[in-house]
Amino acid sequence: MPDRPIWKSGVTLAIIAAICTSLVAATWQLTAERIEHNQQEWLERSLRPALAGLFFDTGVTESKLTLPPPHGLPGSGPAIIYRVYAQGQPVAALFIVSARGGYAGPIRLLIGVAMDGSVTGIRILEHRETPGLGDRIEIIKSDWALQFDGRSLRNPEPGKWKIKRDGGDFDQLTGASVTPRAIIKAIRETLIYFAANADSIFARGDD
Ligand SMILES: Cc1cc2nc3c(=O)[nH]c(=O)nc-3n(C[C@H](O)[C@H](O)[C@H](O)COP(=O)(O)O)c2cc1C
Repeated sequence: MPDRPIWKSGVTLAIIAAICTSLVAATWQLTAERIEHNQQEWLERSLRPALAGLFFDTGVTESKLTLPPPHGLPGSGPAIIYRVYAQGQPVAALFIVSARGGYAGPIRLLIGVAMDGSVTGIRILEHRETPGLGDRIEIIKSDWALQFDGRSLRNPEPGKWKIKRDGGDFDQLTGASVTPRAIIKAIRETLIYFAANADSIFARGDD
């Protein structure tokens, strides 16, 4: 039997490669939508705890603003604000900001603020604080983050937005005062920003 010409093998290989590429592309296209949907659901579920006790009828992530620096919020990178509504009326803004001055770098933080300027909840999104020391800011490690629920610029009064050992109202973390100081400062700065900018936050169009 004569040898198969080399060009025929080449064509066969090219056809197989084209079929495989098409299969991969089709599979990617089919799954990409589902992956995006799952990611969106995950984000919604992660953000909701910072809006405890609020009624809202929009998705948390539906109305997003991304503010490039300089924006006046804590952190030198972009800040994100999700606007949350009930029956078309604003009920809260959810901030993603970076607290400066953490023990091991910036701490990415979620802060929910109701329209009356009170904190609806905070959660830690990302940090590099030390396990067993600064990492007790995480809700799965301790209740420390819950003490901010319902607080506002006047509760406690401005001079008391500190840990107790500095003469303030908030619990510290034993052996780790640097981390709480950074977070308390970032929450207060965010509340100040909200008080000054609530109208413009809700007046702007979505990203
Ligand atoms: C290895 C190591 C890791 C530390 N990690 C943290 C931390 O994650 N957060 C923190 O606030 N302090 C951390 N500290 C302790 C701080 O250096 C500081 O002593 C502590 O925050 C107490 O501050 P204070 O004396 O003002 O209360 C760490 C210290 C060491 C030696």
